[in-house]
Parts: sequence; structure tokens; C-alpha cells
Amino acid sequence: SLQNPIFQQYWGNRVELHVHLDGAIRPETILYFGKKRGIPLPGDTVEELLKYVSYDTPLTLPKFLEKFNYYMPAIAGDREAVKRIAYEFVETKAKEGVAYVEVRYSPHLLANSGVAPMPWGQTEGDLTPDEVVQLVNQGLKDGERDFHIKARSILCCMRHMPSWSPEVVELCKKYQNDSVVAVDLAGDETLKVEDYSEHKKAYEEAVRSGIHRTVHAGEAGPAAMVKEAVYVLKAERVGHGYHVVEDPELYKELLKIKMHFEVCPWSSYLTGACSPDFTKHPVIQFKKDRANYSLNTDDPLIFNSTIDKDYGIVKEHMGFTEEEFKRVNINAAQSSFLPEKEKQELLTQLYKAYGMVPNAS
Ligand SMILES: *[C@@H]1O[C@H](CO)[C@@H](O)[C@H](O)[C@H]1NC(C)=O
Ligand SMILES: *[C@@H]1O[C@H](CO)[C@@H](O)[C@H](O)[C@H]1NC(C)=O
Ligand SMILES: *[C@@H]1O[C@H](CO)[C@@H](O)[C@H](O)[C@H]1NC(C)=O
Ligand SMILES: [Zn+2]
Repeated sequence: SLQNPIFQQYWGNRVELHVHLDGAIRPETILYFGKKRGIPLPGDTVEELLKYVSYDTPLTLPKFLEKFNYYMPAIAGDREAVKRIAYEFVETKAKEGVAYVEVRYSPHLLANSGVAPMPWGQTEGDLTPDEVVQLVNQGLKDGERDFHIKARSILCCMRHMPSWSPEVVELCKKYQNDSVVAVDLAGDETLKVEDYSEHKKAYEEAVRSGIHRTVHAGEAGPAAMVKEAVYVLKAERVGHGYHVVEDPELYKELLKIKMHFEVCPWSSYLTGACSPDFTKHPVIQFKKDRANYSLNTDDPLIFNSTIDKDYGIVKEHMGFTEEEFKRVNINAAQSSFLPEKEKQELLTQLYKAYGMVPNAS
């Protein structure tokens, strides 16, 4: 794809805000730790493993979630593995031409101590969610040093595990000047927050403590979930948010307050979140309305993709121009959860690379 002039221009100057660390692991690394730890995997080669773990035609949510069961036991609970996937993630993103990335994960899903129930049916060990965060932070920092890009992290609460949420927000507070920039809520959107007060309390604590907030909403779920994310949880960005366009009044309101949508085109096709007809994708509406959104990969291991895939889809099927790619990346940088000074530095870098005069976006 580097032959493509549009990609060439953005190479080294992309901003990605929505990607899951545990959905972005290298298959080689999964095989290595599976073997080392004696944990069975569905294949012994990258090709065989990917046959189970990745896919390229739409699947239901339960089928999608099953994918993680195949390989997470090989990684979760292992200190070396957790640090290494964070480090390799930064290398992968540097190679994809990303200048700044916010990578998210649930510390509990990578731990094997102090988590109940044990997420992958592992035996109890001694890696706590707190230490997982320290290891990921270290891996990201080593990666930043070696691959010369900027990487920050977002800690995920899980909709089906409200009992984990208070600890997630405490970890955000503890590590807020040390790689962690925000809290997220991920998982099954049929579980509404109004029925789980722990999530709401955790987000209230995040507001009180100056922790930035994003929420997965309006992906599989309806526009009402986006409304809940913004007005109940006080999300500053919405993960996906596609179904917001089905409530024109809400959509208009969110355009007015410049809400940022973290759009993941290839993911939205494979999870069935949007119509398989790309020409009917809500991001076309977002583009027309000059909404505030970014383009992201979500789970590149499972979707067997790089960010070029997502840029390629919108260029080929949705009429994205060079001007829109610039605007998207500038908006992503502006909506990042970096402290103000670092955000301005990133923006300066992008304006320069794009040959733009600031504020002419
Ligand atoms: C993954 O994508 C690559 C090229 O992008 C392709 O060659 C390969 O066959 C794909 N693998 C699977 C398992 O879909
Ligand atoms: C992070 O930095 C801010 C601003 O310098 C400070 O107010 C806050 O107490 C720090 N938080 C931690 C956990 O160190
Ligand atoms: C997106 O949000 C950021 C942060 O609030 C803001 O600076 C930017 O202007 C917004 N972009 C649009 C197109 O509304
Ligand atoms: Zn996601």
C-alpha cells in the first residue's frame, strides 16, 4: 500500500484512538507463549492459528468473542507475555505509519490473580490487574523509545463485569501520569448501564478525578446507548457510535457539541454493526456533516488487518479524499486524551507534515 500516494503522504503521521491491545497481538507471539507455557492452541503455525482466530466475513457477536478464547489463555497471567505484547504493539503501529496511538485493554482480562471469576478458566496465579498495568506501561515506554512514536493507554471496564469497574478507575487514577490517559467501557451492549450502578459510579469517580472517558456505544446497540454514554457516563468520545444517525435529534445535538466518534470501518463490517453495503455506511453521513471522528482498526489480529485496510475501504468505497484524511487525523489529534501541551506538539507535527496552516482545517 505504500505505493499508493495517499498512504504515502500520511505515512508516519496517522493518529489512531481505538484499538484493543488484546485484539492486536502477533500470532507468532501467541504461538511462542502457548508452546513455552504448555497451553494448547488450535494450530501450530501462524496460518493454522489464523484460520481459527481471524476471519473475513461477518459473524455474530458471540462468534466474534469466541475468538479471544482461543488465544488469550496463552498470554494472560504471564509477565513476559504482557510486557512483550505492549512493546510489539508499538513496533507494529510505527510500521503502519502511526505517530500517536491510544491502545486499550482490560487489566483484569490479562491478570490471573485478584480477578473473579477467572476470565479464561486459568488456574490462579500471582499477576494482579495492577501489575498488568505496570507491565503494559513498561512495554509501551520501551516501544516509544525504540520506535520513536507516542503510545498511551486506556483501561477498559467490561459491561458484564461491573464488579471490576471500581478497580479499573482506581488504576486510571494511580497511573494517570504514567501512560494511562482514560477509562473505557467495552463488551456486550445489550447490558445497559442503568442496570449496573458500579459502572456509573466508576465513571462519576473518573469525572471527579479528571480521568478522560470514552465508551463503546451504538456499535451493536441502538442510538439510546450513545445517549446513555454521553449524558449518563459523561463520555468525551464514543467508541463506534454508528447507530446515532438513527436518532436525528440526538445526532444533531452531538454534532453541535462536536462529539468525537471512533469509527472502525472494517470492524463494523465484520461484526455486523453496519450494513455490509459500504456505500450505506454511517461514516459517509459523518463525512458529509463534517463530524468529529477518527479511523481505527479495533482488533487487527482478529480482522487480519492493518490501518491501511480501513483507509483503503473508505477511499475505495466511500469517496474519501486526501483532504478528508487530513481532517480526520487532525480531529483525532485534537480529540486525543493527551495533556494540552503534548497535544499541541502532535498537532504541530501533523500540520507541518500535511503542509497545512493551523486553524485552516
Ligand atoms: C490475511 O491477510 C493477508 C493479506 O492481507 C492474506 O494474504 C491472508 O491470506 C489473510 N489470512 C487469513 C487467515 O485470512
Ligand atoms: C498527575 O499530574 C497532575 C498534574 O501535574 C497532578 O495533579 C496529579 O496529582 C498527578 N497524579 C498522580 C497519580 O501522580
Ligand atoms: C473534535 O473535538 C476536538 C476536541 O474537543 C475539537 O478540538 C475539534 O475541533 C473537534 N472537531 C470537529 C470537526 O468538531
Ligand atoms: Zn472496540
